[in-house]
Amino acid sequence: MLFHIITILVLSLGATSAPVSTLFSPYSLFDLAFNATWSIYWDWNYQLGSWNENSCPGSAFLSPVLWDLAVAGGAALFTGNPYFAPLITGQLNMFKNAQTGGYSATMSDNTGMYTDDNSQALWVFLDAYELSGNKNDLTAAEGIMAMIQTQWVSNGGGVRWDYDGDYLASISQTESALAAVRLYKLTNNNAYLQFSKDCINWVFENLQDPSDHLFFDGKSVSTGQVNNGKLSYTVGTAISTLSYLYSIENDEKWLTLAIQLIQASAQGSGALYSSVGYWNNPLKYLYLLFTGLADFNNFVESPSVTQLQQNITTEVLRNAKYIAEYYQDGNSGFYYDDFTQAPDSVVSKFKSAFPNANTGSNNPPKACSNGKTYSSLLTNSAAARVFYQTWRV
Ligand SMILES: *[C@@H]1O[C@H](CO)[C@@H](O)[C@H](O)[C@H]1NC(C)=O
Ligand SMILES: *[C@@H]1O[C@H](CO)[C@@H](O)[C@H](O)[C@H]1NC(C)=O
Repeated sequence: MLFHIITILVLSLGATSAPVSTLFSPYSLFDLAFNATWSIYWDWNYQLGSWNENSCPGSAFLSPVLWDLAVAGGAALFTGNPYFAPLITGQLNMFKNAQTGGYSATMSDNTGMYTDDNSQALWVFLDAYELSGNKNDLTAAEGIMAMIQTQWVSNGGGVRWDYDGDYLASISQTESALAAVRLYKLTNNNAYLQFSKDCINWVFENLQDPSDHLFFDGKSVSTGQVNNGKLSYTVGTAISTLSYLYSIENDEKWLTLAIQLIQASAQGSGALYSSVGYWNNPLKYLYLLFTGLADFNNFVESPSVTQLQQNITTEVLRNAKYIAEYYQDGNSGFYYDDFTQAPDSVVSKFKSAFPNANTGSNNPPKACSNGKTYSSLLTNSAAARVFYQTWRV
């Protein structure tokens, strides 16, 4: 993969370019982003080591919410260091809700529980299982899936977003579908394969915008009212799911749908692109589009998509370079989701490159009492994962 990337970089160098572009190494950027995150947001004193939402020196431990913990936990496991596996799964288990078998959105709180958060947690248990071989992690993932399956609406379908709630989010369908197909790969249990197909078929039938093939945010069970927002993470997780399904079943139907989504999301224009021609979603949503495209390139084997896969590699690299260049604070190593809370140095660098772009109203970045500015555990972990997937693509 790395060889591939370097070849493409060399090919794309113009005659006048200095050979510095070969220094763009997505794996090193992953490593650096992960280290910057870990050195600040890892608390050695909570349990045996835990992700901490607070980053200021001397601040008390503040638990991340489940989603953020899953994103940061996955980033830690992608280092390949088995040290992290029991620590991350141990921290996740503090969110477990005894009555339902699902995981609450916040630690030790039984009020809110969401199927998309639970799918994210499930993937982390599978990543941990693949790294450590500990069967308990697979059992935990199956326990979460059992809860998610109770959230399928028996009359009309769709996975509920909040536990026993009224909203059918597209992200709940695509993330549950991905969780189920990954479980199928590890267990060969056909019920998981069927559930994955039910979820992905449902989102295409109920929430796809026919005009641009992207997905609407979700709809209400009781009124059927659709919420029109569109985010890159739904498309990304759908592309991942379809890539797995095609690799398992070799059914052209899955390939056709995946190609349609890739054309809608990764060919330089459309709702997911900004006025300066790059993906517009914050990193916290974008890392799952990078993941979907990397899954497509790794899992789909068909000569009919060779050219498309090369185009994907080019597009992913182009966007990753842009993120490395403009979304990072070179002083701290932190990444920012957008320019509304980034330090002045980050905003002014972007403005000098793209003078006509709208950066939104600029608020001072969040800062510790010692004056150091910080970003967030979620955004930095998402940045690390963007570069990890760029390396994989
Ligand atoms: C990240 O941290 C690890 C462990 O301290 C170290 O081995 C590695 O060299 C660091 N990587 C970078 C890019 O700083
Ligand atoms: C790949 O990109 C080239 C150049 O932008 C374009 O002409 C071609 O149609 C693309 N091919 C596929 C299969 O996406």
